[in-house]
Amino acid sequence: MAAHEHVVILDMGSQYTQLIARRTRELGVFSEILSHKVTVDELMARGCKGVIVSGGPASVYAEGAPTVDPNLFTSGIPVLGICYGMQLGSSVLGGKVEKGKVREFGHAELEIRREDVLLAGISRELAEKPDATRVWMSHGDKVTSLPAKEFEVLATTPDCEFAAVKHRKHPFFGVQFHPEVKHSINGLLVLKNFLFNVCRCAGDWQMSSFIEEQCDRIRKQVGTGHVICGLSGGVDSSVVAALISRAVPGQVTCIMVDNGLLRSGEVEEVRKAFEGHFNVKLVVADAAQRFLGKLTGVTDPDEKRKIIGEVFIRVFEEEARKVKNAAFLAQGTLYPDVIESVAAHGGPTAMIKRHHNVGGLPADMKFELVEPLRFLFKDEVREVGKELGLPDALVWRQPFPGPGLAVRCLGEITEDRLFILRKADLIVREEVDKAGLNRRIWQAFAVLLPVKSIGVMGDERTHEFTCAIRAVESVDGMTADWARLDYDLLRKMSNRIINEVRGFNRVVYDISSKPPATIEWE
Ligand code: XMP
Repeated sequence: MAAHEHVVILDMGSQYTQLIARRTRELGVFSEILSHKVTVDELMARGCKGVIVSGGPASVYAEGAPTVDPNLFTSGIPVLGICYGMQLGSSVLGGKVEKGKVREFGHAELEIRREDVLLAGISRELAEKPDATRVWMSHGDKVTSLPAKEFEVLATTPDCEFAAVKHRKHPFFGVQFHPEVKHSINGLLVLKNFLFNVCRCAGDWQMSSFIEEQCDRIRKQVGTGHVICGLSGGVDSSVVAALISRAVPGQVTCIMVDNGLLRSGEVEEVRKAFEGHFNVKLVVADAAQRFLGKLTGVTDPDEKRKIIGEVFIRVFEEEARKVKNAAFLAQGTLYPDVIESVAAHGGPTAMIKRHHNVGGLPADMKFELVEPLRFLFKDEVREVGKELGLPDALVWRQPFPGPGLAVRCLGEITEDRLFILRKADLIVREEVDKAGLNRRIWQAFAVLLPVKSIGVMGDERTHEFTCAIRAVESVDGMTADWARLDYDLLRKMSNRIINEVRGFNRVVYDISSKPPATIEWE
């Protein structure tokens, strides 16, 4: 990516760091997230056009609070400090940061003193949008004094004297609000002003050029070799397969492992998308019985995941060995998995669930990895998929966990249970689709709860399982909120499940957010 002009985002532990990176890319400027420990020399060597210092949960005056190379703010590299980043820059440059009298959280109105380059255009917007100066605040500390000779105040809010500031000598700007979140009505304009007016970026980041560049890279890496590509039916692996086949047509074998835990129609959809459209060989390994056999009688969630992960590797390995001269393995690793950032606070994160990927192939299978998506975010992957001509159904496919329906079929996994779960799941997805909500909702699915309750159908008493519907909104799957689905939509789903799926006589809606719940039930 070095060929692209880029800005660096220093992660101070904000929940919005990735969002900042995505926003800059949306604006046509490539961005990378780095640890706050990176030095000015390293930043200079990278040739970055500017730096954004993110927000974060700490107090700049607390012992051990994360900091950046103090020379950054006087180095001549344009810097935008957001929230904690502003407080840090201000305190290094002679200002004072203290606990605010009130915690400012939520909307605030900016009163603009001077637009300068950073806030340019916001007043003009006011003529059409009365909420043009509305911004999103989330802070306890604030800058309480700044040397007036060195700083200029660009905007204030009723509770914050220094809502946007600029240094008079160094190219340092600070905003106490969060321009990266959509609740800041002109937040994107502020970021754009920083990138284009301050950093003087030209905006050379486009998906079509990304595809051509990656194809060149893949060709150089692979030469005349053969590439194996694990296809799960999800958007990431589908885009990888399509991209590699564009780069080296005829040199790709895709392996799809049917573990018997896939959703309804999944194998057929992948076949339809790939066979005859992309120059790849598609192998579908039917291993359902092998997986289900090993899972018989297993009810512990972690044990289930472990078994599925192990059998997957075995099956994949067997199929891969059949492909002659394969030297490369393509993976759909995305940027959030490779971000260099060191957690600004705290130790290693606890393992909540054992996640499953094609990572764990045996050491004696010596593949070189091809990872063409390792600089992209999910929404960018979708854009690449669209450009490459993948069908909408694949491009907009919701995330689906590696262990498949196993983590949604609580208790013992049997073919009968999977059969009814698959039918209910299809109904949920069909109704979400019909309501036009597929793109708004991060994931919507059915879960089988092995709880039997009494019902009555016609004149008959029933004693059947419970189906839970889970629908969540999320940006990245790390946090999520349950979707406020319309009652009518829920009614339709419930009616259809109870009427069409023999085995469920009760439907419940899951109203837990993540955290403290997780998206999947196991
Ligand atoms: P949880 O349940 O941890 O899920 O809140 C977060 C996101 O990750 C997906 N997920 C997985 N994806 N392999 C995957 O590739 C896995 O083992 C796995 N487990 C959960 C889940 O669907 C959600 O989008």
